[in-house]
Amino acid sequence: MAYENLLTENRDGLLWLTVNRPDKLNALNRQTMAELDAAVGAAAGDPSVLAVAVTGAGEKAFVAGADIGELKSLGAVQAKEFALRGQAIFARIERMSKPVVAAVNGFALGGGCELAMACHLRIASLKAVFGQPEVKLGLIPGYAGTQRLPRLVGRGRALEILLTGRNVGAEEAERIGLVSATCEPAQLREKVEAVVTTILANGPLAVSHCIEAVNHGLDLPFDDGCLLEATLFGVGAASPEMAEGTSAFLDKRKPNFRL
Ligand code: COA
Repeated sequence: MAYENLLTENRDGLLWLTVNRPDKLNALNRQTMAELDAAVGAAAGDPSVLAVAVTGAGEKAFVAGADIGELKSLGAVQAKEFALRGQAIFARIERMSKPVVAAVNGFALGGGCELAMACHLRIASLKAVFGQPEVKLGLIPGYAGTQRLPRLVGRGRALEILLTGRNVGAEEAERIGLVSATCEPAQLREKVEAVVTTILANGPLAVSHCIEAVNHGLDLPFDDGCLLEATLFGVGAASPEMAEGTSAFLDKRKPNFRL
Protein backbone atom coordinates (compact mmCIF):
# COMPACT_ATOMS: atom_id res chain seq x y z
CA MET A 1 0.00 0.00 0.00
CA ALA A 2 1.26 3.51 -0.84
CA TYR A 3 1.22 6.13 1.89
CA GLU A 4 1.52 9.90 1.70
CA ASN A 5 3.93 10.40 4.62
CA LEU A 6 5.41 6.97 5.13
CA LEU A 7 7.83 4.96 3.01
CA THR A 8 7.81 1.20 3.32
CA GLU A 9 10.47 -1.20 2.11
CA ASN A 10 10.70 -4.89 2.94
CA ARG A 11 14.35 -5.99 2.75
CA ASP A 12 14.67 -9.72 3.36
CA GLY A 13 11.91 -9.74 5.96
CA LEU A 14 12.95 -6.51 7.70
CA LEU A 15 10.28 -3.91 6.98
CA TRP A 16 11.69 -0.37 7.04
CA LEU A 17 9.04 2.21 7.93
CA THR A 18 10.38 5.69 7.18
CA VAL A 19 8.41 8.70 8.38
CA ASN A 20 8.64 10.95 5.37
CA ARG A 21 7.95 14.64 6.01
CA PRO A 22 11.54 15.87 6.00
CA ASP A 23 10.56 19.52 5.39
CA LYS A 24 8.71 19.39 8.75
CA LEU A 25 11.42 17.27 10.40
CA ASN A 26 9.04 14.29 10.12
CA ALA A 27 6.59 15.78 12.64
CA LEU A 28 3.69 13.43 13.28
CA ASN A 29 0.50 14.98 11.95
CA ARG A 30 -2.81 13.09 11.99
CA GLN A 31 -2.28 11.68 8.53
CA THR A 32 1.13 10.30 9.44
CA MET A 33 -0.18 8.77 12.66
CA ALA A 34 -3.03 7.10 10.75
CA GLU A 35 -0.52 5.75 8.23
CA LEU A 36 1.78 4.44 10.96
CA ASP A 37 -1.20 2.70 12.52
CA ALA A 38 -2.19 1.12 9.21
CA ALA A 39 1.37 0.09 8.37
CA VAL A 40 1.96 -1.51 11.77
CA GLY A 41 -1.37 -3.34 11.56
CA ALA A 42 -0.48 -4.61 8.08
CA ALA A 43 3.02 -5.65 9.19
CA ALA A 44 1.64 -7.60 12.15
CA GLY A 45 -0.46 -9.76 9.83
CA ASP A 46 2.03 -10.08 6.97
CA PRO A 47 4.05 -13.31 7.09
CA SER A 48 6.71 -11.79 4.82
CA VAL A 49 7.52 -9.28 7.59
CA LEU A 50 9.75 -10.79 10.27
CA ALA A 51 10.84 -7.57 11.98
CA VAL A 52 10.25 -3.83 11.66
CA ALA A 53 12.64 -0.86 11.74
CA VAL A 54 11.29 2.66 12.18
CA THR A 55 13.30 5.67 11.05
CA GLY A 56 12.96 9.22 9.70
CA ALA A 57 13.59 10.60 6.22
CA GLY A 58 16.40 13.06 5.60
CA GLU A 59 19.62 13.85 7.39
CA LYS A 60 18.28 15.79 10.31
CA ALA A 61 15.38 14.17 12.08
CA PHE A 62 13.96 10.89 13.24
CA VAL A 63 10.71 12.61 14.28
CA ALA A 64 10.69 16.13 15.78
CA GLY A 65 7.45 15.56 17.66
CA ALA A 66 3.73 15.75 17.19
CA ASP A 67 2.79 18.41 14.66
CA ILE A 68 2.69 21.59 16.74
CA GLY A 69 0.48 23.32 14.14
CA GLU A 70 -2.22 20.71 14.73
CA LEU A 71 -1.81 20.75 18.51
CA LYS A 72 -2.29 24.48 18.76
CA SER A 73 -6.00 24.48 17.96
CA LEU A 74 -7.07 21.58 20.20
CA GLY A 75 -9.55 22.10 23.02
CA ALA A 76 -9.41 20.07 26.26
CA VAL A 77 -11.67 17.22 25.17
CA GLN A 78 -10.10 17.02 21.70
CA ALA A 79 -6.62 17.07 23.20
CA LYS A 80 -7.43 14.15 25.49
CA GLU A 81 -8.80 12.20 22.52
CA PHE A 82 -5.70 13.14 20.52
CA ALA A 83 -3.44 11.77 23.26
CA LEU A 84 -5.46 8.58 23.71
CA ARG A 85 -5.38 7.91 19.98
CA GLY A 86 -1.61 8.41 19.80
CA GLN A 87 -1.09 6.24 22.88
CA ALA A 88 -3.15 3.45 21.29
CA ILE A 89 -1.10 3.59 18.08
CA PHE A 90 2.19 3.47 19.98
CA ALA A 91 0.87 0.67 22.21
CA ARG A 92 0.13 -1.29 19.05
CA ILE A 93 3.80 -0.91 18.07
CA GLU A 94 4.97 -1.99 21.53
CA ARG A 95 2.64 -5.00 21.49
CA MET A 96 3.79 -6.27 18.11
CA SER A 97 4.94 -9.84 18.50
CA LYS A 98 7.66 -9.22 15.90
CA PRO A 99 10.70 -7.23 16.99
CA VAL A 100 10.50 -3.50 16.30
CA VAL A 101 13.69 -1.42 16.30
CA ALA A 102 13.87 2.38 16.26
CA ALA A 103 16.74 3.51 14.03
CA VAL A 104 17.11 6.98 15.49
CA ASN A 105 18.88 9.07 12.87
CA GLY A 106 18.42 12.61 14.23
CA PHE A 107 16.03 14.66 16.38
CA ALA A 108 13.74 12.41 18.40
CA LEU A 109 11.82 15.01 20.34
CA GLY A 110 8.41 14.87 21.99
CA GLY A 111 6.32 12.37 20.04
CA GLY A 112 9.52 11.26 18.28
CA CYS A 113 11.13 10.25 21.57
CA GLU A 114 7.83 8.60 22.53
CA LEU A 115 7.72 6.71 19.22
CA ALA A 116 11.27 5.47 19.75
CA MET A 117 10.43 4.41 23.32
CA ALA A 118 7.44 2.39 22.08
CA CYS A 119 9.80 0.32 19.91
CA HIS A 120 11.40 -2.73 21.51
CA LEU A 121 14.97 -1.58 20.84
CA ARG A 122 16.53 1.77 20.08
CA ILE A 123 19.74 2.17 18.12
CA ALA A 124 20.91 5.73 17.61
CA SER A 125 23.22 7.57 15.29
CA LEU A 126 25.71 9.68 17.22
CA LYS A 127 23.86 12.65 15.69
CA ALA A 128 20.59 11.69 17.38
CA VAL A 129 19.09 14.05 19.94
CA PHE A 130 16.38 12.94 22.34
CA GLY A 131 14.10 14.94 24.58
CA GLN A 132 10.61 15.65 25.83
CA PRO A 133 10.46 19.42 25.32
CA GLU A 134 6.67 19.67 25.73
CA VAL A 135 6.95 21.76 28.92
CA LYS A 136 8.53 24.48 26.80
CA LEU A 137 5.25 24.61 24.87
CA GLY A 138 3.17 24.64 28.06
CA LEU A 139 2.26 20.97 27.55
CA ILE A 140 3.11 17.57 28.89
CA PRO A 141 3.95 14.56 26.72
CA GLY A 142 0.75 12.92 25.48
CA TYR A 143 1.93 9.74 23.79
CA ALA A 144 2.99 7.96 27.02
CA GLY A 145 6.34 9.73 27.46
CA THR A 146 5.66 10.29 31.16
CA GLN A 147 5.13 6.54 31.52
CA ARG A 148 7.76 4.95 29.28
CA LEU A 149 10.66 7.31 30.05
CA PRO A 150 10.77 6.51 33.81
CA ARG A 151 10.43 2.80 33.02
CA LEU A 152 13.51 3.05 30.79
CA VAL A 153 15.78 5.44 32.66
CA GLY A 154 14.36 5.55 36.20
CA ARG A 155 12.10 8.04 37.93
CA GLY A 156 14.70 10.63 38.93
CA ARG A 157 16.39 10.91 35.54
CA ALA A 158 13.03 10.89 33.76
CA LEU A 159 11.69 13.72 35.89
CA GLU A 160 14.83 15.76 35.31
CA ILE A 161 14.50 15.31 31.53
CA LEU A 162 10.75 15.97 31.57
CA LEU A 163 10.85 19.02 33.83
CA THR A 164 13.76 20.73 32.09
CA GLY A 165 12.70 19.77 28.56
CA ARG A 166 16.41 19.63 27.73
CA ASN A 167 18.03 17.76 24.88
CA VAL A 168 19.73 14.42 25.56
CA GLY A 169 22.55 13.58 23.15
CA ALA A 170 23.10 10.07 21.79
CA GLU A 171 26.02 9.23 24.07
CA GLU A 172 24.12 10.25 27.18
CA ALA A 173 21.08 8.35 25.89
CA GLU A 174 23.19 5.22 25.69
CA ARG A 175 24.72 5.80 29.12
CA ILE A 176 21.31 6.15 30.82
CA GLY A 177 19.74 3.21 28.99
CA LEU A 178 17.47 5.16 26.69
CA VAL A 179 19.15 3.49 23.71
CA SER A 180 20.95 0.17 23.58
CA ALA A 181 23.67 1.19 21.11
CA THR A 182 25.05 4.14 19.16
CA CYS A 183 27.01 4.28 15.92
CA GLU A 184 28.29 6.63 13.24
CA PRO A 185 25.37 8.02 11.20
CA ALA A 186 26.47 6.20 8.03
CA GLN A 187 26.48 2.86 9.87
CA LEU A 188 22.97 3.08 11.32
CA ARG A 189 21.16 0.89 8.80
CA GLU A 190 23.89 -1.72 8.87
CA LYS A 191 23.90 -1.76 12.66
CA VAL A 192 20.12 -2.20 12.81
CA GLU A 193 20.25 -4.95 10.20
CA ALA A 194 22.98 -6.77 12.16
CA VAL A 195 20.97 -6.70 15.40
CA VAL A 196 17.84 -7.85 13.57
CA THR A 197 19.78 -10.69 11.90
CA THR A 198 20.95 -11.85 15.33
CA ILE A 199 17.41 -11.75 16.70
CA LEU A 200 15.92 -13.53 13.68
CA ALA A 201 18.34 -16.44 14.05
CA ASN A 202 16.65 -17.19 17.38
CA GLY A 203 13.38 -19.01 17.90
CA PRO A 204 10.59 -16.70 16.65
CA LEU A 205 8.10 -17.91 19.25
CA ALA A 206 10.68 -17.46 22.03
CA VAL A 207 11.42 -13.93 20.78
CA SER A 208 7.73 -13.01 20.74
CA HIS A 209 7.25 -14.56 24.20
CA CYS A 210 10.14 -12.44 25.58
CA ILE A 211 8.45 -9.32 24.20
CA GLU A 212 5.12 -10.33 25.72
CA ALA A 213 6.59 -11.30 29.10
CA VAL A 214 8.49 -8.02 29.43
CA ASN A 215 5.66 -5.80 28.15
CA HIS A 216 2.95 -7.30 30.29
CA GLY A 217 5.07 -8.49 33.17
CA LEU A 218 6.48 -5.04 33.97
CA ASP A 219 3.00 -3.76 34.71
CA LEU A 220 2.09 -6.70 36.95
CA PRO A 221 3.02 -7.52 40.54
CA PHE A 222 6.27 -9.55 40.50
CA ASP A 223 4.61 -12.89 41.30
CA ASP A 224 2.01 -12.41 38.56
CA GLY A 225 4.77 -11.52 36.09
CA CYS A 226 6.59 -14.71 37.06
CA LEU A 227 3.38 -16.69 36.54
CA LEU A 228 3.04 -15.16 33.07
CA GLU A 229 6.66 -16.12 32.37
CA ALA A 230 6.09 -19.70 33.55
CA THR A 231 2.96 -19.99 31.39
CA LEU A 232 4.79 -18.77 28.29
CA PHE A 233 7.71 -21.07 29.18
CA GLY A 234 5.22 -23.94 29.19
CA VAL A 235 3.70 -22.93 25.86
CA GLY A 236 7.19 -22.71 24.37
CA ALA A 237 8.10 -26.13 25.69
CA ALA A 238 5.19 -27.62 23.74
CA SER A 239 6.39 -26.06 20.48
CA PRO A 240 8.49 -27.64 17.71
CA GLU A 241 10.78 -24.64 18.17
CA MET A 242 12.07 -25.84 21.56
CA ALA A 243 12.48 -29.37 20.20
CA GLU A 244 14.64 -27.97 17.38
CA GLY A 245 16.67 -25.66 19.63
CA THR A 246 17.50 -28.26 22.25
CA SER A 247 18.15 -31.04 19.67
CA ALA A 248 20.46 -28.76 17.70
CA PHE A 249 22.46 -27.98 20.86
CA LEU A 250 22.82 -31.65 21.75
CA ASP A 251 23.67 -32.57 18.12
CA LYS A 252 26.28 -29.77 18.06
CA ARG A 253 24.69 -28.08 15.04
CA LYS A 254 23.06 -24.71 14.38
CA PRO A 255 19.30 -24.69 14.93
CA ASN A 256 17.02 -23.89 12.02
CA PHE A 257 13.89 -22.34 13.44
CA ARG A 258 12.39 -21.27 10.14
CA LEU A 259 12.00 -24.53 8.24
N1 COA B 1 5.66 20.27 14.46
C1 COA B 1 5.47 20.96 13.32
N2 COA B 1 6.48 21.45 12.58
C2 COA B 1 7.72 21.23 13.02
C3 COA B 1 8.02 20.51 14.18
C4 COA B 1 6.91 20.02 14.92
N3 COA B 1 7.08 19.29 16.03
N4 COA B 1 9.36 20.48 14.35
C5 COA B 1 9.89 21.12 13.30
N5 COA B 1 8.91 21.59 12.49
C6 COA B 1 9.05 22.35 11.26
C7 COA B 1 9.41 23.79 11.51
O1 COA B 1 8.25 24.55 11.83
C8 COA B 1 10.02 24.16 10.20
O2 COA B 1 8.97 24.36 9.24
P1 COA B 1 9.03 25.63 8.24
O3 COA B 1 10.30 25.42 7.43
O4 COA B 1 7.79 25.47 7.42
O5 COA B 1 9.09 26.84 9.09
C9 COA B 1 10.75 22.91 9.79
O6 COA B 1 10.13 21.84 10.51
C10 COA B 1 12.23 22.92 10.14
O7 COA B 1 12.35 23.19 11.53
P2 COA B 1 13.26 24.34 12.14
O8 COA B 1 12.74 24.67 13.49
O9 COA B 1 13.38 25.46 11.17
O10 COA B 1 14.66 23.57 12.24
P3 COA B 1 15.86 23.91 13.24
O11 COA B 1 17.02 23.13 12.78
O12 COA B 1 16.03 25.36 13.41
O13 COA B 1 15.39 23.33 14.66
C11 COA B 1 14.40 21.72 16.13
C12 COA B 1 15.20 21.96 14.84
C13 COA B 1 14.06 20.24 16.21
C14 COA B 1 15.24 22.12 17.34
C15 COA B 1 13.10 22.56 16.09
O14 COA B 1 12.44 22.31 14.87
C16 COA B 1 12.15 22.25 17.19
O15 COA B 1 12.35 22.66 18.34
N6 COA B 1 11.03 21.57 16.86
C17 COA B 1 9.98 21.29 17.80
C18 COA B 1 10.37 20.19 18.78
C19 COA B 1 9.27 19.99 19.78
O16 COA B 1 8.95 20.83 20.60
N7 COA B 1 8.64 18.79 19.74
C20 COA B 1 7.60 18.43 20.63
C21 COA B 1 6.29 18.74 20.01
S1 COA B 1 4.96 18.32 21.09
